Amino acid sequence: MSHHKFDVRKLEKLNDEKRFEQLIPEVMWDALGDPNPSTIVEIGAGTGLFASRFADMALDVAVYAVDIEPAMVAWMEQNRLREDGKFHPVLADETHVPLPDAVADIVMTINLHHELEFPATTYAEAFRLLKPGGQILVVDWAPTETLGGPPQEIRATEDQLREMLESVGFEASVAHFGLPWHSLVTALKAE
Ligand SMILES: C[S@@+](CC[C@H](N)C(=O)[O-])C[C@H]1O[C@@H](n2cnc3c(N)ncnc32)[C@H](O)[C@@H]1O
Repeated sequence: MSHHKFDVRKLEKLNDEKRFEQLIPEVMWDALGDPNPSTIVEIGAGTGLFASRFADMALDVAVYAVDIEPAMVAWMEQNRLREDGKFHPVLADETHVPLPDAVADIVMTINLHHELEFPATTYAEAFRLLKPGGQILVVDWAPTETLGGPPQEIRATEDQLREMLESVGFEASVAHFGLPWHSLVTALKAE
């Protein structure tokens, strides 16, 4: 496993709601065009901080919070399940998410890209999971000076993210402004 993977012993750091000051959920939601999804998949959900926030923001939704770390999935099962039944932790492996084709209106990844061993395979998996007309949202540390974050040499530019998404079949990729330290790219799986 890559040495860039998040250290699960620091899992509690992911739950710091101060992260919402830089990783602003409303900015991500606006970038998706203020959607009304019935199913969201977050690949690399960690402790589900964002997946859970998006479950709050969408009215009638199922959110699948996917991670490869059994400790993350166990933490979500113990701490994030909700009475409204919107939140579903899922254990995956590096290149495969055990959910059916065309299940999602939105697939999102937040601070995942720099950890991926096989990014093209993971984005192809995101493409498979999306319904025609669905959107992907990719947020990751920008290659600029930031407080914290991974080494500069493993950060991608917006253009690199867009190129990667288009290489696996996504269309109409767009980089959005609004996050101070992160790139935010959306793209479409055509109808
Ligand atoms: C830096 S954490 C971010 C978690 C969450 N998105 C957040 O921002 O709070 C990245 C997470 O992605 C998971 N991960 C790494 N590679 C993955 C892959 N190929 N598929 C799914 N999850 C992966 C790690 O186990 C880790 O929990």
